[in-house]
Amino acid sequence: MTGFAHRIDCVEVAAPILRLCWEMGWNEANGGNFSWRLDAEEFDADMRHLLSEAMPRDIVLQNPQPELDGDYFLVTGAGQFFRRATSHPDDVFGIVRIVDEGRVCRTVWGFGGGGRPTSELATHLTAHAVRKERSEGRERVVLHCHIPEFIALGFLLPLSSDVLTRALWQMMPECFLVFPDGIRVVPPMCPGSAEIARASAEALAESRVISWAHHGIFASEESPDSVFALVETVEKASGIYRKLLSAGGPKYELDLGILEELAKKLGASLVAPPNIPKARAGS
Ligand code: 13P
Ligand code: ZN
Repeated sequence: MTGFAHRIDCVEVAAPILRLCWEMGWNEANGGNFSWRLDAEEFDADMRHLLSEAMPRDIVLQNPQPELDGDYFLVTGAGQFFRRATSHPDDVFGIVRIVDEGRVCRTVWGFGGGGRPTSELATHLTAHAVRKERSEGRERVVLHCHIPEFIALGFLLPLSSDVLTRALWQMMPECFLVFPDGIRVVPPMCPGSAEIARASAEALAESRVISWAHHGIFASEESPDSVFALVETVEKASGIYRKLLSAGGPKYELDLGILEELAKKLGASLVAPPNIPKARAGS
């Protein structure tokens, strides 16, 4: 119970989670952004009356998203602070609808004071299109945070998806269960660019969690709660690994047989067979 109430259900659920992200130290100033693909039928039935007084504002998408045509999204605004999510929700959030066969993003509520969607909108929409298809519609929420331990690892490890995934899987067996499809690394690129949206789409076809090297995490999950848990687990494992590196590197390894066993248990639910490292000779 947070005691936070809002007339729009999805804002009531999302705002306290964004505020918690700030309390965790993940989203300084306007760092990070969030989007949630809403159930269009539910939204139309319950919330549409709230949109009637809104002045629609359109953005023509450089990269059209026909798979998202008709979908509504709750999105954070460009330059908005997660810290203010519960105190100023009508400024921090907006609701957009993708229309005109995926060519136009229409603001139908929010972004008070004439704001606009996050500068990373292109990547969020591409991520939703890719993950909607990969997860058969289950995944609905995308969260980008500047998580410090994870960012630090980008300066300590080579920019390799395999190296990062293996390092974090081995920190706790739970990691393998929370992100069995591993982490894909996107090399450093200009934030908010079409280039980072394109590279992220390729990476997200393989995994629901990606590292924007030297910048932060970009992750997709089913709900605000589950995407928070995913980021929390990645950041905790990164903190453990960074401590180990500070102490001269791990001296022993997790029993990799445990990961093999977990992979068998997950079985058909895995999108792709995990690339579990082989134990080193003599370890
Ligand atoms: P926005 O304020 O436009 O969402 O940008 C924040 C950010 O983290 C860019 O990567
Ligand atoms: Zn960022």
